[in-house]
Amino acid sequence: MCGIVGYIGSKPVKEILIDGLRELEYRGYDSAGIAVLQNHQFSLFKAVGKLINLEEKAQSYESTGFSVGIGHTRWATHGKPTELNAHPHVGQNSYVVHNGIIENYQELKAMLTSKGVQFLSQTDTEVIVHLFEYHLKTSPTPFDAFTKTLEELEGAYAILLVNASADNTIFFAKHGSPMILGRNREGETLFGSSDAALIGKCNEVIYLEDGHYGFASSDTVALFDSKNVSIALNFTPLSENKLSAQKEGFRFFMEKEIYEQSTVLSDTLMGRLHDETVYFEELDSSLFTGISEIKLCACGTSYHAALTASYLFERHSRIKTSVEIASEFRYREPLLTPDTLFVVISQSGETADTLESLKMAKKAGLKTLVICNVDNSSMVRLADASILTRAGIEKGVASTKAFATQVAVLWMLSLFIAHERSTLTPSDLAHQIKILRSIPSIVKVDVTLHEQLRRLSKRYLHGHGFFFIGRDVFFPLALEGALKLKEISYLHAEGYPSGEMKHGPIALADPELFTIALLPQHKLYDKTKSNVEELSARDSTICSISPLDFDKADDHIRTHMHDDYMQEFFEMMVVLQLLSMEIAVRLGNDVDMPRNLAKSVTVE
Ligand code: M6R
Repeated sequence: MCGIVGYIGSKPVKEILIDGLRELEYRGYDSAGIAVLQNHQFSLFKAVGKLINLEEKAQSYESTGFSVGIGHTRWATHGKPTELNAHPHVGQNSYVVHNGIIENYQELKAMLTSKGVQFLSQTDTEVIVHLFEYHLKTSPTPFDAFTKTLEELEGAYAILLVNASADNTIFFAKHGSPMILGRNREGETLFGSSDAALIGKCNEVIYLEDGHYGFASSDTVALFDSKNVSIALNFTPLSENKLSAQKEGFRFFMEKEIYEQSTVLSDTLMGRLHDETVYFEELDSSLFTGISEIKLCACGTSYHAALTASYLFERHSRIKTSVEIASEFRYREPLLTPDTLFVVISQSGETADTLESLKMAKKAGLKTLVICNVDNSSMVRLADASILTRAGIEKGVASTKAFATQVAVLWMLSLFIAHERSTLTPSDLAHQIKILRSIPSIVKVDVTLHEQLRRLSKRYLHGHGFFFIGRDVFFPLALEGALKLKEISYLHAEGYPSGEMKHGPIALADPELFTIALLPQHKLYDKTKSNVEELSARDSTICSISPLDFDKADDHIRTHMHDDYMQEFFEMMVVLQLLSMEIAVRLGNDVDMPRNLAKSVTVE
């Protein structure tokens, strides 16, 4: 996703900006640019692709003395990844960088075009710089023009803007996209869309809040809130230790990654949901021509996302779907027919078994698609098409936000195909999209619930095993819950379809066998409840997760009432992640780097 940096000071500005952008590379991007303002003169450099290309373009540029600079890595949403679409965007005497989406850019663009403004790019961002210059003509100061500009913008943004007439100043604003302002003992001011870009360069920062805007110059910073009231500068110290600072106050990367699922899911959905359709800029609908079957293939957590998707594909898109564990698929001499779309799912894009399966499918002449979190990974480069999950770098070995974003992408893909095949009515599609839009707020961690899970975890440190059970999509979620617990607690846990218990596993039931029962209100509640009652009757200790009371439960984790089972799915996902983590913490295990495991499994 896009990244922003800004700098006001006297050090070599190019190096500082590019260094900051490098720290934001993990967010993913497809072009980059910087603009430097010195003595009322601008220097601009942009390049498609990696930062090395930008460095080459700016190779001969050197600055001495005071300057201000802004930089950006762009992850294309409006318009292709080209140099013209890369930020900073230019007006006559101003430059802007922006993260987020300006939702009313078309209206603004039409208004500005009617006044004779010429646009160079296809982006929504470019309206900001022209709107600013339009207001500058009638405003007493550039800051007034900036304030008027913000009043007209709708959508999400983090903005840095520079203007030649104020050559020691950066104008900034935050509304919905992250922005941090930092300063150091040498009197320099910096900006970053994550503190990763500021660590080592600033000793204190302000995490700007939505509605905050202002300007920073060589000798002053002015900050205003959404009611245009000037507010005090409350700087907080910034750790100088990169690793602990990257944890942003959380105990583990896994915990941070669970907490940031709301933000990354917003990124996953961004620009992809329309009122009655799903839109993937990366997909050409010809990918589905002649396709009558989908085969999903993956390992571990990604396999659980695939299994979840198989329910959604058959339900929404009415297309025959099968799911394969990659390590099995490779050697079982599968029958592959050209009417099958082969979809691999991988956080890293490097997992050996999944990569080899993808190669097999390609060799057999199948059309291929990868759902992946890492741009330019081996799978992304190999597949015919790719959809990025936009989860940001995931450091905890136990996957959390990668799973959440994979399920969200696959769910959207089921709707995309449903639209292509007309298998859902417009009102059903609109309903699904409405539910999808609610997911980022549903996965926000409720700290009271987290505390309840922390307390509950002490009752689940012994015993001879766990059954995680559920039906429909809650079965793959049960598998994922069991895998999370196994990976970091080293306790034995199995996921099962709840209706399968009576066919054998129930023989294990006794008080030392813990059943974690997923009891959603909106998907087969009564059926699952009967299965849990069967386990309770055999004295298994029951921990139910449900919005409804369950009188046979020894422990009950109450989730919220929702309108749809997928909302329940995502809330229960967070509960399972936190419960596993708290059990592992109590057992004194290394949560982020559990024994015997690697983040990316590049051997078979
Ligand atoms: O990078 P991938 O998604 O291809 O990785 C697949 C599995 O190795 C991975 O999901 C693994 O199961 C995780 N440790 C689960 O938390």
